[in-house]
Amino acid sequence: MHSTKTRLEPTPIAPETFLIHDHQGEGTAPVTVALNSMVIRAAEPVVIDTGMAENRAQYLEDVFSLVEPRDVRWVFISHDDVDHTGNVNALMDACPNATLIINWFMVERMGASLAVPPTRWRWIGDGESFEVGDRSLHAVRPPIFDSPTTRGLFDPTTGVYWASDSFATPMLDPVRDVAALDRAFWTDGIVTFNHYVSPWLALVDDGRFQATVDRIDALQPAVIAGCHTPAISGAHVAAAIDVTRRTPGLSYAPQPDQSVLDQIQRALTDGIAA
Ligand SMILES: [Fe+2]
Ligand SMILES: [Fe+2]
Repeated sequence: MHSTKTRLEPTPIAPETFLIHDHQGEGTAPVTVALNSMVIRAAEPVVIDTGMAENRAQYLEDVFSLVEPRDVRWVFISHDDVDHTGNVNALMDACPNATLIINWFMVERMGASLAVPPTRWRWIGDGESFEVGDRSLHAVRPPIFDSPTTRGLFDPTTGVYWASDSFATPMLDPVRDVAALDRAFWTDGIVTFNHYVSPWLALVDDGRFQATVDRIDALQPAVIAGCHTPAISGAHVAAAIDVTRRTPGLSYAPQPDQSVLDQIQRALTDGIAA
């Protein structure tokens, strides 16, 4: 087992646009899963998603290595899962000039866990935009999602699309760009994660699903960033969109079941007895 976690400093992925890294599973699971967030140093700086609570110190250090707390003007939450909202209250506490971009259903679903007062909220839904001084950012729902509150975020000035839980893939070790992954491992990983994140894919009319992929394709992203993937750039963008398009018809690895948990529990028990 690894005793330490690999430290990835923020990665510049486009002008004034940075991926903030975290991951889990390293050294303890067969694969590692990225837990990224993002910063856009627009005229009015934007933080996109807030990582896991257990990574709070590192998360805040990384964000504030790029932008001063008082300069953060917008905090955009893509959806209400714990890996995207883990530090939302801490970040908003630290950034007195920030407005929190959420939506009505996030408020309903988060309940009292959202400690930011309504006077600091703005509600932005799929298809809506907001101004950040030198550009408009567009909320666009990705094709794969696991919360009804989900919106991605597209920056037309850099071509970066924040895909939230879409285009996710496991890694064998923490890396910054999907170019570092074996090609088949990467595309198989997207298929598997797509099915895990959105099991309703099996229920959806394919024409309607394709329209949701077309919508992202039409943005012609230069870079796709997401919570659970290294950066996707260059020719990998078209490949990620293509494999997502074909996901409903492709088979995938089953999720670990009770027999796997039995093995884990035996290993833990043996470890204690040893
Ligand atoms: Fe999620
Ligand atoms: Fe997620």
